[in-house]
Amino acid sequence: MENILSIQDLSIRINKQPLVENVSFSVGEGEAILLSGANGIGKSTILKSILQLEMDGKDISGQIINRSFGNVLSLNGTELQRFRSSIAYIQQKDEYSEMGSIQVRDIISESREAHTGKNLSNAEVNDLIDKWIPRRSDGKRVFDANSKPAKFSGGEQRLLSVLSVIATRPNAELMIIDEPLNNLDFVNARNISNLINRVIKDNPKMGLLMISHCRIFPFITREIGLTAKGASLVEERYACHSCFGEANAEGFYTEYR
Ligand SMILES: Nc1ncnc2c1ncn2[C@@H]1O[C@H](COP(=O)(O)OP(=O)(O)OP(=O)(O)O)[C@@H](O)[C@H]1O
Ligand SMILES: [Mg+2]
Repeated sequence: MENILSIQDLSIRINKQPLVENVSFSVGEGEAILLSGANGIGKSTILKSILQLEMDGKDISGQIINRSFGNVLSLNGTELQRFRSSIAYIQQKDEYSEMGSIQVRDIISESREAHTGKNLSNAEVNDLIDKWIPRRSDGKRVFDANSKPAKFSGGEQRLLSVLSVIATRPNAELMIIDEPLNNLDFVNARNISNLINRVIKDNPKMGLLMISHCRIFPFITREIGLTAKGASLVEERYACHSCFGEANAEGFYTEYR
């Protein structure tokens, strides 16, 4: 199995204070890696370092090697932009509150444009929403293409972030997701698990690196636990289905409607 991303002896200091030390792990073709660990241990910081985002005040040593772009820590300018847009990355925090009159269709279409250079038509945006945002019992959806994310609840924002990135980048080599289930109710959590599973089943060579405190995802192939001493394989990974019920043999949950 070829590695898409390989992290070797990564150490991160923030404002001269050590946060992450000697972290090594890789994401191979077709692997779905869960990165777990305590609040504040440095999981999101590792993901941001892979994308080279928010680097002010941070000193990084070690290597982050991507199969297509080489040593990520030495990328800059256009190459760095190309690397970032090759990845389906969903950050932990949703940032829609200042977006004024921007609509869901703009967010989804621009996400595709950042990845492929081509935006989506209104019909294509509507198709994605039809496919992935189910109707509630009153027939309405959580949001539609005209909704304004500046007014969204926490869960509505999370759904939009996940949908806009992964549904528009199904051919990405690497998907990096920071806590997809924040604020989601059971129905939407199952839908998001299914959405991620659909994307990786349709693109079996894709690598997934995902942080979550929730172990509902039936498609995880390996769990890496982060502690103050580094990252290591969690041997006894458990799947927890007490909130969500059992998935089928392909790892999909039946949808509640
Ligand atoms: N730019 C920054 N400047 C100063 N401190 C930072 C910065 N970024 C992160 N930190 C600190 O580094 C620590 C790790 O943060 P990080 O967001 O990586 O944690 P996490 O493992 O993702 O936690 P959680 O499970 O709560 O999301 C925190 O104490 C955070 O305050
Ligand atoms: Mg985090």
